[in-house]
Amino acid sequence: TLLVIGLLVVIIVGDAFFHGVNPPSKVETIDSAKLHLSKEFAESNLGVQLDDKGEIMVRMVAGRYSFFPKHIAVPAETKITFRWVSMDVLHGVHIPMTNMSTMIVPGYVAEITTSFPKPGEYPVLCNEYCGLGHNHMWSNISVI
Ligand code: CUA
Repeated sequence: TLLVIGLLVVIIVGDAFFHGVNPPSKVETIDSAKLHLSKEFAESNLGVQLDDKGEIMVRMVAGRYSFFPKHIAVPAETKITFRWVSMDVLHGVHIPMTNMSTMIVPGYVAEITTSFPKPGEYPVLCNEYCGLGHNHMWSNISVI
């Protein structure tokens, strides 16, 4: 399975490079295979953290068919930087009522800064067709 996924990543990224298709979020690359390796990686790197400047940084992974972590909580009316990576194929992420809408291209980090206007439950939706489970690909953010 890893080999197949790796091959897919190579094909997709190679294809994007060959055709010169570079999404604006293409600023940093990541080895997608690493995302599969361990629970330790996920637990130490994913979710809500404070960065060096004391600002909120959220790291999430998109994979068929969910966003991980499945559920997080963040404060309202606060600048939050999200960093997204894909563990398999092209996904998208859309969070209604915010400016969050971007492709998540395998092999690249998509970074977007946003804030949530008011407390409540916000769905995190995939808006790029990614397979049979696409319609069920979502997670949830509690804004408090
Ligand atoms: Cu992931 Cu559609």
